[in-house]
Amino acid sequence: MYARSVSDPEGFWSEAAERLDWMRAPQRIKDVDFTHGRVAIRWFEDGTLNVAANCVDRHLAEHGARTAIVWEPDDPSEPAQHISYRALHENVCRMANVLKDHGVGRGDRVVLYLPMIPEAAYAMLACARIGAIHSVVFAGFSPDALGQRINGCGAKVVITADEAPRGGRRTALKSNADKALIHCDDRVKCLVVKRTGGQTTWTEGRDVDLTAAMRAAATDCPAEEMGAEDPLFILYTSGSTGQPKGVVHTSGGYLVYAALTHEVTFDYHPGDVYWCTADVGWVTGHSYIIYGPLANGATTLMFEGVPTWPDASRFWQVCEKHSVTQFYTAPTAIRALMGQGNDFVTGCDLSSLRILGTVGEPINPEAWTWYNEVVGQNRCPIVDTYWQTETGGHLLTPLPGAHATKPGAAMKPFFGVQPVVLDPESGQEIEATEATGVLAFRDSWPGQMRTVWGDHERFENTYFQQYKGYYFSGDGCRRDADGDYWITGRVDDVINVSGHRMGTAEVESALVAHEKVAEAAVVGYPHDVKGQGIYCYVTLMNGVEPSDDLRKELRNWVRQEIGPIASPDLIQWAPGLPKTRSGKIMRRILRKIAENDYGALGDTSTLADPAVVDDLIENRMNKG
Ligand code: PRX
Repeated sequence: MYARSVSDPEGFWSEAAERLDWMRAPQRIKDVDFTHGRVAIRWFEDGTLNVAANCVDRHLAEHGARTAIVWEPDDPSEPAQHISYRALHENVCRMANVLKDHGVGRGDRVVLYLPMIPEAAYAMLACARIGAIHSVVFAGFSPDALGQRINGCGAKVVITADEAPRGGRRTALKSNADKALIHCDDRVKCLVVKRTGGQTTWTEGRDVDLTAAMRAAATDCPAEEMGAEDPLFILYTSGSTGQPKGVVHTSGGYLVYAALTHEVTFDYHPGDVYWCTADVGWVTGHSYIIYGPLANGATTLMFEGVPTWPDASRFWQVCEKHSVTQFYTAPTAIRALMGQGNDFVTGCDLSSLRILGTVGEPINPEAWTWYNEVVGQNRCPIVDTYWQTETGGHLLTPLPGAHATKPGAAMKPFFGVQPVVLDPESGQEIEATEATGVLAFRDSWPGQMRTVWGDHERFENTYFQQYKGYYFSGDGCRRDADGDYWITGRVDDVINVSGHRMGTAEVESALVAHEKVAEAAVVGYPHDVKGQGIYCYVTLMNGVEPSDDLRKELRNWVRQEIGPIASPDLIQWAPGLPKTRSGKIMRRILRKIAENDYGALGDTSTLADPAVVDDLIENRMNKG
């Protein structure tokens, strides 16, 4: 199948597209140009469909009573919900009608800032149903970050909830949205799900009780006929620069790819209960909680809580309670749970599990082995799925039962995916089987992003400029003697903290926005649980005294500017930063010091003032 997928992509993908219900079946399958200056990616271009109808309506006739979503709330004493495809249809239609009542239609943008509650799924599918474009903002982002994203896509409506329960605590989402909306157009409406019933302030004329409005809305709403290349969603992600970019995914190709990868990578069969622990605020939640599984008529579990509350057995309790068959999580969660000891796992009945998955960052062999032996009891293949917000779905992964697995390797390309290892300097493909270099892809696959919202030039420059004719991933990789792929991590200024992707430049801009900070440089360093931690070198304004209190103040400042996920782990006071004579910060050196690897600093002779390096080494924070 793989050989055919690359030798006859048109044939392969036109057959794969038959898994969807099209309103008009596509005849033009693929039209792709990776040439910098005229990058264009189109799949199934003349086909029309509705994504929500594919994820909901078409399952009704035969499987209306089947559970579409199992919802497990934060608090285990609150009852779980089993939402059938029929109930899903009703709720999606109700929400779609509310959106229409507030003037939302084809092509309009809607921002979602929600907990992991069924309404998040209803909202995404309601947008898809009426042809609106959703942009989900992770509920851990700050009001500032939310405001930027509302303005960035010119949203008409924000959907949020009063509060988000997580780990027994509550985040005041509505109040965050209130703060964000101060900086937005007055016409932006705010629809509020009543999740906890907690106190919120209300702005008449702007705020709408969505729970009540849905109750009053009609349960039927026609599905718009959309073009395959009409945008389905925008999702902001971090890059090398300070400004996150709005990744745009379209309807037909994205859904074909999400559905096929979900079925094949997880060996999904009817009757399975599939659980992906991601948040819908990230791409993993889009493709592998909502779109892929629901397009396949699957039962997908949605979890509101955290792995360690009420205690570190929660994941395994949920697996037992709902007889989960496929379990898909991030290495950071595996490492955190591994540290809590085996009793939390072995006390639960995990005999229903068949496949385990990981995603988001390289998994260290120790965590992989623990996952395999303790959670999977040596009988569940582990799929280590490598992909990105930009790629829409899995690019490299072993297929369970078909491929060997190796602890820490993403192994093989998915159908239609053509990885190449490039020499980072020359940009030449390394032909030898064993190779180390940067990871790029030779041709397109249907789930690939199409553009950066409002900035196609940035799309071309980010992914297609440095290595001509390829999609450049930003990751380094190694291909071993068997031809299997190992991801070695980002080669740009993006770091991966607990599976959350972050631009070091974003943290730097937040730091320098503080009045006491003159200059800042941020790098990643190895962290036992988070994968990478955030290491900040900060130069203070003249006359400002460094102190532990100031460290705390800066840490809180960054949390406020971006969100808790961007909290600096280590802040080192740097009287000076290592710079070239032309004033460029030499990050390579800062990275080495943060990694505690300063024996290998390399050439420092081009520094304007080599003495700053000695000071930084002497006062480094990461002495472990
Ligand atoms: O560096 C790679 C890492 O996560 C980056 C993509 O992050 P994001 O767009 O947030 O998407 C995460 C979920 C798809 C990649 O450039 N990454 C993702 N999966 C893996 C990985 N690194 C190693 N192994 C993986 N399985």
